[in-house]
Amino acid sequence: MARRHFTKIWDLKKEEVLGLINRALELKRRKSWERKFVGKILGLIFEKPSTRTRVSFESAIIKWGGNSIFLSSKDLQLSRGEPIKDTARVLSRYIDILVLRTYKQETIEEFAKYSSIPVINGLSDRFHPCQVLSDIMTVMEKGKDIYRDKIVWIGDGNNVAQSWIEAASLLGFKLTLACPEGFEPEKELLESAKKLYNAQIEITHDPEKAIEGAKVINTDVWISMGQEKETKKRILAFKNFQVNSELLKLASPSAIVLHCLPAHREEEITEEVLEGAQSVVWDQAENKMWLHMALIEFLLESNYIY
Ligand code: CP
Ligand code: NVA
Repeated sequence: MARRHFTKIWDLKKEEVLGLINRALELKRRKSWERKFVGKILGLIFEKPSTRTRVSFESAIIKWGGNSIFLSSKDLQLSRGEPIKDTARVLSRYIDILVLRTYKQETIEEFAKYSSIPVINGLSDRFHPCQVLSDIMTVMEKGKDIYRDKIVWIGDGNNVAQSWIEAASLLGFKLTLACPEGFEPEKELLESAKKLYNAQIEITHDPEKAIEGAKVINTDVWISMGQEKETKKRILAFKNFQVNSELLKLASPSAIVLHCLPAHREEEITEEVLEGAQSVVWDQAENKMWLHMALIEFLLESNYIY
């Protein structure tokens, strides 16, 4: 059987995505499960900071009865030039599953290529697939229908947005993104989404038009990790793309607001909206842990025979 990894949403089939979300919702509802991964070790290599992804993955493996080993990349010989392919093969002898947060998507793909254990993308410059699985879980948990309700993204066409595009394509729901000119998602990704999945992705530069009648509103920081040098330019370009109460008035009154966090208050979202009645961000953050439990189970069970 070919090794299964999770480097991007398109690594999965539609039924697998829906299955993972249902399993995560079930784990959350039941709050009881067999400790079936006693002795299994989850490794985490993070080249960028993290609160939610790191802690929710560590909690998830511990809930299954396993353990975690966290490594910042500077702790590894990787930082002194040891090749990825060597690191991947050695770590595969010590641990059972690996989460990697890094810059280049290619780094994750190379790790996956040389690993005999499942490799999970914990965020790259191009994608944040785990985030979007738990975001869709949150949308469903809040009673929204991904196939009927208008789902919008306001802001940067970044890693989280690009994973939303992959999810919309694979699952077959419509997605509208409002981004400033020059900050749209990658053209090649949009072309592949159209070609491979006949995806219905609308890109506009008008946040007011995008949000009209929306039931699910997503946003994220204007300056992602690694883009700090572009801060001035980005703050200027994104100034009309803030999710504030005035903009929110144009959405459906029952709309929910998502933000993967960390949030920069008064930049991409106001304190009023983030802390307001329509914000679901705390449940969204919690859901990462349930989704990660389901993902660990899925990858360990599809790669090994117990
Ligand atoms: N949403 C998210 O991935 O948060 P962290 O950067 O804290 O992991
Ligand atoms: N787009 C953000 C997401 C953080 C979880 C970043 O890459 O910094």
